[in-house]
Amino acid sequence: MKKWCGGSLILFLAVLLTLSYTLFPSSLKAPPPSSSAATAAAGIHTPPSPPPPPKPHLLPSLPGLADLFSPSPLVPDPNLAWSQMRTLLSRSDAISGTADGLREAAVAWRELQATLEAEKLEKVAPWRSKCPFLAYGNGRFTEIPCGFVDGSAVNIVGIPLSVNGSRTGAFGIELVGSRVSDEIREPPIVLRVNVSFAGDGATELPVVSLNAWSPDEGWGTWEQCPAPAIDAYQKVDGLVRCNEQNGESVMQEKMLNGSAPPPGASKRSARVSDNLAFVEGHPFTATLWAGMEGFHLTVNGRHETSFAYREKLDPWSVSRVRLEGDLELLSCIANGLPVSEDIDLVGDVESLRAPPLPKKRLLMLVGVFSTGNNFERRMALRRSWMQYEAVRSGDVAVRFFTGLHKNKQVNLELWREARTYGDIQLMPFVDYYSLITLKTIAICIFGTKILPAKYIMKTDDDAFVRIDEVLSNLKKHVPRGLLYGQIAFESSPHRDKDSKWYISPEEWPHDSYPPWAHGPGYIISRDIAKFIVQGHQERNLQLFKLEDVATGIWIQEFKKSGREVNYVSDDRFHNEGCESNYVLAHYQGPRMLLCLWDNLQRQHEPICCD
Ligand SMILES: *[C@@H]1O[C@H](CO)[C@@H](O)[C@H](O)[C@H]1NC(C)=O
Ligand SMILES: *[C@@H]1O[C@H](CO)[C@@H](O)[C@H](O)[C@H]1NC(C)=O
Ligand SMILES: *[C@@H]1O[C@H](CO)[C@@H](O)[C@H](O)[C@H]1NC(C)=O
Repeated sequence: MKKWCGGSLILFLAVLLTLSYTLFPSSLKAPPPSSSAATAAAGIHTPPSPPPPPKPHLLPSLPGLADLFSPSPLVPDPNLAWSQMRTLLSRSDAISGTADGLREAAVAWRELQATLEAEKLEKVAPWRSKCPFLAYGNGRFTEIPCGFVDGSAVNIVGIPLSVNGSRTGAFGIELVGSRVSDEIREPPIVLRVNVSFAGDGATELPVVSLNAWSPDEGWGTWEQCPAPAIDAYQKVDGLVRCNEQNGESVMQEKMLNGSAPPPGASKRSARVSDNLAFVEGHPFTATLWAGMEGFHLTVNGRHETSFAYREKLDPWSVSRVRLEGDLELLSCIANGLPVSEDIDLVGDVESLRAPPLPKKRLLMLVGVFSTGNNFERRMALRRSWMQYEAVRSGDVAVRFFTGLHKNKQVNLELWREARTYGDIQLMPFVDYYSLITLKTIAICIFGTKILPAKYIMKTDDDAFVRIDEVLSNLKKHVPRGLLYGQIAFESSPHRDKDSKWYISPEEWPHDSYPPWAHGPGYIISRDIAKFIVQGHQERNLQLFKLEDVATGIWIQEFKKSGREVNYVSDDRFHNEGCESNYVLAHYQGPRMLLCLWDNLQRQHEPICCD
């Protein structure tokens, strides 16, 4: 606790410095440094603090920006948060990936406009979704028309061929992304799986190696199973990166516990790595499926290895499966692919469509992060907690904040969905996970300038929110300077480069973060949202890629400007699943969302489903 106080003081002083530097030129008032803090600081030996970053400027021109922001007859709704995001995207300190997300969105946007234009001329007959649930392979290629979602899988049945009767064969499975642009011919490889019976050169044991490739970054680090190196972040979606049977994870955990590996460990490792599920000349069934955090490979029913998604190689961008090498392929089928509901067949469109807006100010705007091809999740939300009376009456508005997809068909279906239900706000960038902070700012813009609301909530499309409970809890607190959710009061940046949440010292030089609320669901009061919008307009607030921590950082700045912050933490916001009596449950797939709603309707109790 003591240590934390000292740390927060240093943090406070460092940010104060930055703040006075950035605020004074724009003639805003910065709080005077308090004398007690100054004296206390004199006694502490601090390393020289890094020089304050200069205020970001606006880049003069960015490829694609003009296309995305030129007036279009197709943007039916002048209210789009989109139109207010231009300066946010051209900041010199933009989050890495912004320029690509923008450039690719411009291509997608032009394509969508052309398609809609062509359709208008053709006056085509009743429209049917072209995103299928199943995709069949044609030879060594399987086209994935609308990308992967959580739960999508490729099922491969084949026989590894032995080359000249010796262990030299190798084959590969690739999940190929969409081409980035016309200039770059090679599409990214979202996942490459190599199965080599000759080993990796170092050993002669069969090995599975995984990696990803992008035109900008090339190949990343190869991950292997069995793995020679200890990997601290070995779990993906709760599954080990390499099956214990392959002699690895037991050792890893022992090492992590800080004790030496047990005597028999290395022997065990060598012995069982022979136990690879792929055997030359023997048929196998392999399933490569997409989870929340990464891809997983199951062979003959046994989990073999997992691979965390790499940055900008999100599963939604998978567009084909490619197989190559010494493999006799018997079949390849992809299933669990995203399907959009045929609007003609949805009987209850009227009760799912966003209700007309009331004349008075909204009580709450709920911004839901959603990716283009998550059709099913959005429908499940519309049929579950978006049916709360507060939402149907228009006191609470719910909007999905969705970036563009790289696939033409997905954008087209997304467009129709947006027109039908009136609850989607498209974003002027391609939906890379690394750009989600931009969505948070978009929600604040929307909830302060477009549909002004007393409270603004951010949530995800796999979260169940008990709107009634949220509203009645909000009533207990002053609606000013409020952050409500499950709050992390003491946390520090991940400095391990392999961590999904890795933050470099350049991105955040301090040892700890200010308090922030977990991303699956949190609520801020209007004054904070306005501060965030204004701070970004004036470029006084830092862009930071972890959106929930970013909100915490901005609230800290709000506090430093002399206003009081009311942090209200509620541990019934479950950010890692569901527990009964929840206010918010996370990681709920479409069926679970509907089941939770059903439980509330029938039993009037927040009971989890499993
Ligand atoms: C397999 O054998 C053929 C002929 O014996 C030889 O030309 C070829 O290089 C061998 N391939 C491998 C991978 O060893
Ligand atoms: C994986 O396979 C590709 C294609 O055969 C090859 O170029 C690459 O070197 C292999 N990498 C590893 C680590 O096995
Ligand atoms: C690591 O340590 C914890 C706590 O001492 C123990 O419960 C766990 O079983 C250990 N894991 C392994 C693999 O030894």
